[in-house]
Amino acid sequence: MRLAVYFPYRKEQSVRYLRAAVIYGSSWLLFLREWWRSPSSIGAICASSRWLAKAIANQITIKDGVVLELGAGTGAVTAAMISKGIPEDRIIIIEKSCRFVDILHKKFPGVRVIHGDAADLNELLPDDIKVDAIVSSLPLRSLASELRKEIIHQWHVCSEAACDVVQYTYDIRMRINLCREDRFFSVVRSQIIWRNFPPARVLVAAPIALCSTISPSALRVEPTAVSQD
Ligand SMILES: C[S@@+](CC[C@H](N)C(=O)[O-])C[C@H]1O[C@@H](n2cnc3c(N)ncnc32)[C@H](O)[C@@H]1O
Repeated sequence: MRLAVYFPYRKEQSVRYLRAAVIYGSSWLLFLREWWRSPSSIGAICASSRWLAKAIANQITIKDGVVLELGAGTGAVTAAMISKGIPEDRIIIIEKSCRFVDILHKKFPGVRVIHGDAADLNELLPDDIKVDAIVSSLPLRSLASELRKEIIHQWHVCSEAACDVVQYTYDIRMRINLCREDRFFSVVRSQIIWRNFPPARVLVAAPIALCSTISPSALRVEPTAVSQD
């Protein structure tokens, strides 16, 4: 009798674990394959952990616009944003790898996934879109300087005055801007996620024009902050 009660429960749970392992395993293999094909454009050998994804999602607030996610990869951050309550139809992804685009379409049928380059952001976005936040998993540090410059410029053009940019980096030293070429945003908050592999720093940056109106105490940048790169 006890066995009859015990086994159906275990079997159900085992199937759930097995399914999760297959999904996780196939995402991981896909990530590794994409990294092998183009290491500088992927910038990491594994996807964001759930701790990193959650820390990023927690930094996002939307008003009446959308969240723009750049370089979503296998969708760890997308999933965390949806779990946090951001509706799928308020997320727009721009992803360069067609293999990741396929997986993102399957995982998040309600999210608009655009296959393209973040450097062409303003051409790819519909005209009437209002961007409340930009979430970037782009490996800024491994991209060419000119490309980085163009990407940051696009963020500046498409964002409204109050649009935050959330970016993570495996260089955990504190930064005052997003990258060496960044002339438009200033880091206002940051947090190291030690449980991620490798540990990563989540940077939240606001337009410099807006920072001049924020009180200095709100800018929680550590005293050892250095200019990027
Ligand atoms: C570090 S991975 C993102 C990992 C993601 N957070 C995850 O958990 O799967 C960087 C992603 O940026 C994408 N990417 C790199 N350069 C890009 C560009 N110029 N435009 C759009 N996506 C780009 C890569 O294809 C890759 O999916």
